[in-house]
Amino acid sequence: MGSTKLISLLFCLLLIVSTSSATQKKKSRKPCKTLVVYFHDILYNGQNAENATSAIVAAPAWANKTILAEQNHFGDIIVFDDPITLDNNLHSTPVGRAQGLYLYDGKQTFSTWFGFSFLFNSTEHKGIVTFAGADPFLEKTREIPVIGGTGDFFMARGIATFMTDAFEGQVYFRVRVNISLYECW
Ligand SMILES: *[C@@H]1O[C@H](CO)[C@@H](O)[C@H](O)[C@H]1NC(C)=O
Ligand SMILES: *[C@@H]1O[C@H](CO)[C@@H](O)[C@H](O)[C@H]1NC(C)=O
Ligand SMILES: *[C@@H]1O[C@H](CO)[C@@H](O)[C@H](O)[C@H]1NC(C)=O
Ligand SMILES: *[C@@H]1O[C@H](CO)[C@@H](O)[C@H](O)[C@H]1NC(C)=O
Repeated sequence: MGSTKLISLLFCLLLIVSTSSATQKKKSRKPCKTLVVYFHDILYNGQNAENATSAIVAAPAWANKTILAEQNHFGDIIVFDDPITLDNNLHSTPVGRAQGLYLYDGKQTFSTWFGFSFLFNSTEHKGIVTFAGADPFLEKTREIPVIGGTGDFFMARGIATFMTDAFEGQVYFRVRVNISLYECW
């Protein structure tokens, strides 16, 4: 066989391999792992220091750190350490903690931005899932990117769908989170 023929044969093989891997990437639209959990946030309000799982740590100059600011709470930054449960009961045995921060970044309308991790520590799941993204929480459902993970969630990538499941004034809210991972190892 001439070397020109060999080279063109190799080139054809390369083309086949590269196109098939491209189609494979495109069609993987089904999640490789799904998980539904709830997290519960009890905001400090000046009277519930023992129970609070979150606190305003920064507020605009026209507000304070006890009461959420006027104008859609714009400018407040909240740090949280919330229990994660498998059902919607705050008193169920937690399977981990949701830890991180959210900040109110809408002045004309309610809007938040979340940067946080789920630290799972149960017999079923051990590991961390990290999320970051906008939560325009007046929408019924919101999608937050899953940007990485460790342990059982090593190299995770996907989408978390947030749905506010309950809220009581400015003190308590509960979010149902449907996690769909599209990359699993
Ligand atoms: C703390 O939570 C417990 C259990 O839900 C409740 O009985 C108690 O009233 C709460 N205390 C405060 C200060 O909110
Ligand atoms: C914080 O602001 C609220 C609302 O303006 C006010 O009622 C409250 O007294 C303030 N608290 C402190 C500790 O300044
Ligand atoms: C995870 O759970 C185990 C068993 O309850 C406990 O011993 C351990 O301290 C927990 N780890 C973390 C990081 O919370
Ligand atoms: C979230 O998961 C629950 C339970 O599997 C399902 O009933 C619900 O439709 C899902 N919601 C979204 C927005 O995907």
